[in-house]
Amino acid sequence: MRKFAKSVAAIAAISALALTGCGREEAAPATEGGESAAAGFETGSAIGVALPQKTSENWVLAEQLFNDGLTEAGYEPDVQFANGGVAEQQNQISSMITNGVKVLVVGAIDGAQLGTQLAQAKEAGITVVAYDRLLLNTDAVDYYVAYDNFKVGELQGQALLDGMKAAKPEGPYNVELFAGSPDDANAKVFFDGAMSILQPEIDNGNLVVVSGQETFEQAVTQGWKAENAQKRMDTLLSGSYGTEELDGVLSPNDTLARAILTSVEGAGKTLPVVTGQDSEVESVKSIMEGKQYSTINKDTRALVEHAIEMVNGLQAGEELEINDPDSYENGVKTVSAYLLEPQIVTKDNAAEAYADDPTLSALTK
Ligand code: BGC
Repeated sequence: MRKFAKSVAAIAAISALALTGCGREEAAPATEGGESAAAGFETGSAIGVALPQKTSENWVLAEQLFNDGLTEAGYEPDVQFANGGVAEQQNQISSMITNGVKVLVVGAIDGAQLGTQLAQAKEAGITVVAYDRLLLNTDAVDYYVAYDNFKVGELQGQALLDGMKAAKPEGPYNVELFAGSPDDANAKVFFDGAMSILQPEIDNGNLVVVSGQETFEQAVTQGWKAENAQKRMDTLLSGSYGTEELDGVLSPNDTLARAILTSVEGAGKTLPVVTGQDSEVESVKSIMEGKQYSTINKDTRALVEHAIEMVNGLQAGEELEINDPDSYENGVKTVSAYLLEPQIVTKDNAAEAYADDPTLSALTK
């Protein structure tokens, strides 16, 4: 999906400015290759937001933020979760189309299973924005807005190395690798980002994947479910860690990191380093207690805010700002993307990273 490295420096500059409080408009680079501007639509129109299952806190936060933000901006939001699965999400999108939404913001359960509904949306003149997860194998997706997923993986891979080195200065280190759900287009990108850092260390012998399970297919966690990660970790421990020590685990998000820690504790072992993502409350607590090593700060408020800015631009018939025109090939087209910069968080920088988040910053005191 990701073809080219992007201008990380440009994106870093955006996030640095965003952190100092400057408006995103001032900080963003000039538009490069966005879709041609739509004709615009009436204020007060209906906007559909299709969210996946509640597999992590960021999705739950997004629901409220979309409802409040779209209402405040004068739209009629229709925000739906699809906890029942893909068929439910397909039905929800069909109803949104029938109800006359002007923009569809989609966080897909399975990015490759919405082709029919998205083709109908396109036919009806609706603009489709893929939110957080890319929509695959369809030409009916106009934009993508997300945190830089490959960068998330790189940060996780580097955190795993840094954490293990801090715990034990000399390798080789025994590690295990976990990935997210294979139907989520992000999961492979996170894994590839992490492996771009870890594979050279596996090749030179500094890291040893004791189970031998090194591929994405072997590492996946169906449905991003905690119980699946816990079960796989139980199996890896009983199969490969009789006398061996485990030094670190690559976990793609916080929910799975906590499940992995539960498994390791249950087996009476210790796990010096496990990575994560999403800055979930329980994981931030765990990091402050010195159990989970790292997470990723992908502030949902900023992502929803940007998605709503896109809706505003479409409403006004403006050409949208894009900062990554090249990286997200979906099997049919290259989708114009606006990427936000993720941030690694460990105990060392948690207070600073969450300074403007009242809930999380209270946990770092
Ligand atoms: C999101 C992650 C999240 C995962 C599970 C991914 O698509 O990017 O932030 O942890 O879904 O919900």
